Amino acid sequence: MLKNIEELNGMREAGRLAGEVLEMISDYVKPGISTGELDKICHDYIVNEQKAIPANVGYRGFEKTLCTSINQVICHGIPDNNRILKSGDIMNIDVTVIKDGWHGDTSKMFLVGKVQAHNQRLVQITQECLYRGIEAVKPGANLGDIGHAIQTHAEKNHYSVVEEYCGHGIGKIYHDEPQILHYGTANTGQEIIEGMCFTIEPMINLGSKSTKLLSDGWTVETQDGRNSAQWEHTIYVNKDGAEILTLRSEEV
Ligand code: MF3
Ligand code: CO
Ligand code: CO
Repeated sequence: MLKNIEELNGMREAGRLAGEVLEMISDYVKPGISTGELDKICHDYIVNEQKAIPANVGYRGFEKTLCTSINQVICHGIPDNNRILKSGDIMNIDVTVIKDGWHGDTSKMFLVGKVQAHNQRLVQITQECLYRGIEAVKPGANLGDIGHAIQTHAEKNHYSVVEEYCGHGIGKIYHDEPQILHYGTANTGQEIIEGMCFTIEPMINLGSKSTKLLSDGWTVETQDGRNSAQWEHTIYVNKDGAEILTLRSEEV
């Protein structure tokens, strides 16, 4: 669905709030805290300070505000009071906020304590993959250009791109059309049009791209047990390219 200016302003506010949650929580991410505690802090902040709704709570039976995906977990890790962060962990926190009916969806990687250089590199290259995907966005380009930019950068660095999970259209609906694949061929796929809103959220693996779903029905891990990273933004397509609706101050 294409957004007019009033709808765009709704999306801007939802996106700003989602980005603000990731900024707020960063001081708490340290060895010794549990992912369950991080979840509670974010939940209470969204509800009490932002006067907004944590979109993941109750979404298809998910019970938490955040997805906390550590090391070999690719996505949809469930916050847990018994999962204590330890030095060396790399963790994605993914949060979606609803404000006035509009969704803002974003995630970033956190380095816990002292992280090995090869894991730091995975995290950094994955963020570059997100930015390259965003740079491919402009009216008249194709959705395949986004996936192509991401896949090219990942594979040049000898990483693999997860294929089973993708970005998505977003607005009043959390996961809407179109699907945004993180791999693909330039000049293929649907044309990108001014007014579109969608997420780009590449998941990049150190080893093979294969995934496995754990018996909790949510947690997705790498099949080979090697680490994975992910970064996500919600964007709006304007006449020149992409406006990042979930931008954080550390990125400017
Ligand atoms: N925020 C995730 C995404 O980027 C979806 C999480 S759904 C949940 O699309 F139920 F696991 F929270
Ligand atoms: Co998300
Ligand atoms: Co998303």
